[in-house]
Amino acid sequence: MVTGAPPLPNAFISGSGFYVPPRVLDNETFAKTYGIDTTHEWIVKRTGIEERRFSDEGVATSDLAVPAAEQAIERAGISKTDLDMIIFATLSPDHAFPGSGVYLQEKLGLCSGEQAKFVPALDVRNQCSGFLYSLATASSMVQSGNCKHVLVVGAETHSAALDLTTRGRTVSSLFGDGAGAVVVSATEEDRGVRGWYLGADGRFADALSQKVWDIKKRPFIPQNEEGVGQAQPDHMFATMDGKLVFRNAVERMIRVLMEAFNDLSLTRDDIDLFLFHQANMRINQYIADQVGIPEDRLVHNIQRYGNTTAATIPILIAEAERDGRLVPGKKVAMVAFGSGFTWGAAIVDW
Ligand code: UT7
Repeated sequence: MVTGAPPLPNAFISGSGFYVPPRVLDNETFAKTYGIDTTHEWIVKRTGIEERRFSDEGVATSDLAVPAAEQAIERAGISKTDLDMIIFATLSPDHAFPGSGVYLQEKLGLCSGEQAKFVPALDVRNQCSGFLYSLATASSMVQSGNCKHVLVVGAETHSAALDLTTRGRTVSSLFGDGAGAVVVSATEEDRGVRGWYLGADGRFADALSQKVWDIKKRPFIPQNEEGVGQAQPDHMFATMDGKLVFRNAVERMIRVLMEAFNDLSLTRDDIDLFLFHQANMRINQYIADQVGIPEDRLVHNIQRYGNTTAATIPILIAEAERDGRLVPGKKVAMVAFGSGFTWGAAIVDW
């Protein structure tokens, strides 16, 4: 041990924000607008989703992130120039490259004038677990003493990349657009991120994937005679083995939650609020039943937004802070699972 070294800080969530686009599509409107053979009853019964938000054409994922990030920064009581790093989790980035983090940095006004601060911007590509992978990275940066304030964003524009025909209904009826953000800050107080637990199993990489880009091909998107790139629907849009994903989600989410409890010597009764990834209400209710989590300790918003992938947990955080359910002193468990397969959990003292 180095004598005289200052104690390393804790990392806590100092502010949160969210933004969802204003266009609401309830299940009936969703079916009618796109002529999809589905019903409100089917979607609610199988998933719990009642409506979702879709952005309009011309809106990028980084645009959704801007108001969410600005709210989080304001609520953290800092200014943009206090940020030391941006981490942007998304599976629907503005472009194939560069990452959405640099677009967000520019849109936040950090690249010019008095406010210029050329902080590093990192994109995280871990789909539904993207926020927890990002939170783990941000808290490690803070706890190591390398950063004081890290902006973490999860944002998605699914509406542009869904097969909005009956052929794609199993996937398209699940997803919605939105953004959530938090600032992870250093503190000497005894609070914050107590542990994070991440995992992945690449054997299931194809079980939920979108392969519009296939680098093995020459060129990577097939071209027609005029040189125009054309992708088949099963490459253009996400495909999913829903039942396989469902089974693994339940199993892995329970297992990673138990890993966190064992590591920190906690039981379910120590946790005030469970923030689960919002992929399917039935997945979360099944886990709650198995673990014995009372309904009033579980927060949902899948009814209103569908699955917003990397944005589900930061939106839950922002909403739970706004409605007073998430206040300093509460102990929180976050758990996610998704494409990869990847999964994660985090235990946080608010
Ligand atoms: O966040 C990433 C992680 N994702 C997940 O965790 C999703 C996990 N999976 C699931 O949530 C469920 O598997 C789904 C909700 C996607 C599907 O539910 P399911 O009970 O597994 O249904 P299924 O795919 O087996 O389909 C059952 C029937 C099929 O018809 P047939 O073959 O029985 O005639 C589907 O064609 O339901 C049909 N179906 C639909 N019908 C009306 C599928 N989607 C729809 C729809 N509307 N939207």
